[in-house]
Parts: sequence; C-alpha cells; structure tokens
Amino acid sequence: MKKNLISILDLSSEEIYDLFNLTVKLKKNKAAYSRTLSGKSLALVFQKPSNRTRVSFEVGMYQLGGQAVYLSPGEINLGVREAVKDVAATISRYADGIVLRTFQHQNCLDMAEASRVPVINGLSDFSHPCQALADLFTVREKLKDLRKVTLAYVGDGNNVCNSLLFAAAKTGMHIAVATPEGYAPAESVLKESLKLAAGSGSRITVGEDPLKAVEGAQVVYTDVWASMGQEEEINKRKIIFKDFQINARLLAKAAPGALVMHCLPAHRGEEITDEVMDSVNSVVFDQAENRMHVQKAVLIKLLGKR
Ligand code: CP
Ligand code: NVA
Repeated sequence: MKKNLISILDLSSEEIYDLFNLTVKLKKNKAAYSRTLSGKSLALVFQKPSNRTRVSFEVGMYQLGGQAVYLSPGEINLGVREAVKDVAATISRYADGIVLRTFQHQNCLDMAEASRVPVINGLSDFSHPCQALADLFTVREKLKDLRKVTLAYVGDGNNVCNSLLFAAAKTGMHIAVATPEGYAPAESVLKESLKLAAGSGSRITVGEDPLKAVEGAQVVYTDVWASMGQEEEINKRKIIFKDFQINARLLAKAAPGALVMHCLPAHRGEEITDEVMDSVNSVVFDQAENRMHVQKAVLIKLLGKR
C-alpha cells in the first residue's frame, strides 16, 4: 500500500522518531545514500511561490540519485486546466511521487486519492507537515529531548501552527500558542491535538497573551501575519498583530538562551525584528537546512523499496 504525507496525523509517533533517526544518518553521511532513489522521479506541483520547499525537494531528490520535475502554478493550473484527479492520474503514470503545494487542503486529499504514487503535502492553507517535521528535528538536534521542551508559538493560528500542534502532540513536546482573538488555530486541530497529547504527555495551551505563552519557553516560534493568499489583509493584520511581534522585549521573558525559530520567509520588522532574527538565539537557517535532510528521509520512506 502506498503511503502519503498529507498531514502529521498520517504518521505515528514511532514513524516520526524513525524519520528523525534516518535524518541523522542522512545528514552525517550524504554519500552513503547517493543511489538510494536511483531511477526515481518526483513531480513538484506548485500553485504558490516557494524557495525552501522547492529547492530542498529538488536538491534532496538529486542527492538521493533521483530527479525532480517542477511544475509552476501556470503550467498545471490545477483544477482549471484539468481536474485535480486527472492531474494525479496522469502524473502517477510517470513519476514515483508527487509533492503538492496548494491552497485548499481538499486538493491534497483529492490528489492522494486519485494518485497511484505517494503524495506529499508541500503546504496547503491548512497544514505544512514537512515544515513541522524539520522544526521538531531541529529542536531535538539542539535540545535533545522533545519531552522536556516547551515551544511558544506566537502569531497567526495558521497552517504552520496547525502542523506544529499535531507534531507536538505526537512527539510529547509541549506547546503554548498565543494568537490575537479570532486567529486561533482551528477548533478541530486543537481537539485532535489535545486527544493525542493525553497519550504522549504533551502539554498544550492556546491563548491570547504572548507574554504568558513565551514565559519560560525554550523555543520561541513565529510565522508571517498574512500567509500566501492573504496578502491583501496585511494592513489590517499589522494592527491586530502588533503585540505579537518577536522582539527583544518578548524574548527576554523566555528561558535564558531560548531558540528563536521561523519557518521563513520572514517579514523582518513585522512578526520578527532584525535584532532577534540575526541574534545568536536564532536557528532559522539551521531549520531551513533541515527541511532538506528530513524530506530526504521522507522520500526514502515513501518512495524507496518496501
Ligand atoms: N518554509 C517554507 O515552506 O518556505 P517556502 O515557502 O520558501 O518553500
Ligand atoms: N504560513 C505561511 C508559511 C510559509 C512557508 C504561508 O502559508 O504563506
């Protein structure tokens, strides 16, 4: 049976830790895996712009001995030029895997259903599972035991926040979310995360006070205030989110030496100051690098020999 990665919920806690262990090996010994996906192809179907997701998947696939084919938004014109299920049915006759970056999360589900080959969610409006995997791998790399870490997420209760909640709940990391009123993560995400957390020991809180969320946290995380597709809301959001900026004053409330994380792209001067982004606390580029290492592990697990 093919396996997809549409949501962190597609992975058990054990599978996540297995991916992390493989990622450590891939990062240490790149050459040992240079033929692992030889002869395999990965199609990248993107409806939104990208730097990290596109480059890390393309280069990662090359480093594993395979190749990637990138299809830009105008090329496939998902759902307009051709129905999602027809795109899936066609591409899966050529390629061994599909990465989809899209707006409606339903497109990922429809693509997965109609595809014969594994489908990986490279970001939807609802979630960004590859990001959360790389993020938790980074936290583990720096702080060792996820179960002893509290990550404070300050900002919009968006796709990245949703995936971090699921990933924390699965792995036992603690997470404190603070968003402005009306921008909390989806109720269904919170409900599912709390259910999983009861099994993993993860402590989850969601509120509206950034100072409270950050207090004592070992990791402080943020993302843009307006995600791709919400650009026209930025002026309104700049007012609503103004107290949710990661700046030196807020960071001072976190644990000493707290890590600062951001999935990137960052809007410097909005959700994060230059001072914090460029500080010794910031691990944002290690995080970006780890996208590639973790995704190579995902590609081996999903596209490799069974
Ligand atoms: N973090 C992330 O997914 O970056 P891109 O949008 O540049 O791919
Ligand atoms: N929340 C952001 C993440 C970008 C990687 C967006 O969806 O635009």
